[in-house]
Amino acid sequence: MASIHKMKRGELFEQTIELEVVKSVIGSGYEKQVADLALRDGVAYRAARKNMQIHSAVILKIDSEFSGFFTFQVNHEVGEFCLLQSAMELDRKDKEIYKLMLKEIIAQNTFGYPMIMTVSTKHDLERPDVLESVGFKTYLDLSGYAYMVYGTLDQVRMKRLCHATMTNTWNSTKGDWLKMKKEWNEKIEAAGEKYGIKNPKFASRDGCWQGSSGMANVVMASQEIDDDGEIVTKKDKTLNGNASVLDPVACECIVRFFMPKNGRRVFNPFGGGVQMGFVAGSYGYEYISSEIRQNQCDANNAICQDLNSAKWIKSDSTTYKPDGKFDLCFSCPPYYKVEEYLDYDGKPPDGELNSTPTYSQFREMLFEGYKRGIEALNDNCFFVVMTGDSRDNKGAYYGCEAEHELFFRDQGLAIYNKIVYLECEFTRLAQAKVTLNTRKFPKREQKILVFYKGDISKIGELYPKIGRL
Ligand SMILES: C[S@@+](CC[C@H](N)C(=O)[O-])C[C@H]1O[C@@H](n2cnc3c(N)ncnc32)[C@H](O)[C@@H]1O
Repeated sequence: MASIHKMKRGELFEQTIELEVVKSVIGSGYEKQVADLALRDGVAYRAARKNMQIHSAVILKIDSEFSGFFTFQVNHEVGEFCLLQSAMELDRKDKEIYKLMLKEIIAQNTFGYPMIMTVSTKHDLERPDVLESVGFKTYLDLSGYAYMVYGTLDQVRMKRLCHATMTNTWNSTKGDWLKMKKEWNEKIEAAGEKYGIKNPKFASRDGCWQGSSGMANVVMASQEIDDDGEIVTKKDKTLNGNASVLDPVACECIVRFFMPKNGRRVFNPFGGGVQMGFVAGSYGYEYISSEIRQNQCDANNAICQDLNSAKWIKSDSTTYKPDGKFDLCFSCPPYYKVEEYLDYDGKPPDGELNSTPTYSQFREMLFEGYKRGIEALNDNCFFVVMTGDSRDNKGAYYGCEAEHELFFRDQGLAIYNKIVYLECEFTRLAQAKVTLNTRKFPKREQKILVFYKGDISKIGELYPKIGRL
């Protein structure tokens, strides 16, 4: 199968460009020519390998002479179309002819899969502007490489999340993470504004923080020009920057990585802020959360009303039994005595965990809540807890993280991932100037502990494949 194009070169010359699609380089008769050019080209050297020549290719001939190749792979299991290596004879390199090869490959994608390619910004042909000119978009810029897609950005969102995480240290302070966080926060803000919920990211959490800098200590100021042209500074004591609010990108990673292929329901036994429900609901998942404060439930339910499938139910998790089974449990529970959770009447409701007098009572109630989640969790599913240790009044850690691991293991779940969620160090550096005298290193991380209920050997088959990164 070959397509023929005629191309004018100056006034006099016309070149015949022939593009032949071969199912695999091996067996096509072009093995040696592809390998030879790949090695001379340098960048495309991998196309010389036998294990790469199993892939399909467009073979380029100019005036009947072998002049280049572009290899590609269709991955039906993942549902993606990968562009691999390309090269043109060194003395015949030409962007217009190269684009013809790209268009020929695009024509092979009759499956509607996203087509992906990683290109160097320094290459002469395989470069972002050339791919953009035939319809590719860059979804990630990383260390001199552009990760590009012919398709929609949604189709490669998971790849972006993979690049933002990659190891068990999720650094929430870096470029693309911050970009994605800003996008989520804008959506949450817009939903809050639409339904009259003030300060939606922190809704109902004013003054909950009990740390060194006190309660509700952040003053939100904005400036406006009045009718006389004077600048008026408006102060509003509603924003508490110290309140713990979940990072929506961490929520998205958890939902995307730990939801099985056919999963659709998420349960959260200690609901808290709006973020996880907003993210899970935006993906169309059903999100049910037990939350003991009416004010928090009301604010979250108002913000998420357009999503329809995210619900906070005012209830005590130690006794609440959700209906039906779930495909993912997630919780970011109270960290003992770090915050105070108050309802409309300014008091913690009965049964609120952080108002229990001792750590051991707190832990018993917390684990009681988890037990109900574990019971409601389907087999071969994950239970993810975002947690952090806190210190007693003498300065010793309670050991709450370690106790989580032992508790879930004793309940028969596997301890599957211990992820460090890394936060900005700015305020911690100031703290360190005081606390290092007593040899305390300010805490800059939280843990995302991932437990698995079921047969570990099934994870590869039950969870969506990631594809090429
Ligand atoms: C640490 S917060 C969640 C923090 C989370 N990072 C967020 O974004 O809001 C924990 C939540 O658990 C709720 N809670 C405390 N005791 C509870 C109980 N017995 N049953 C259900 N929820 C409870 C608190 O009201 C609080 O909103």
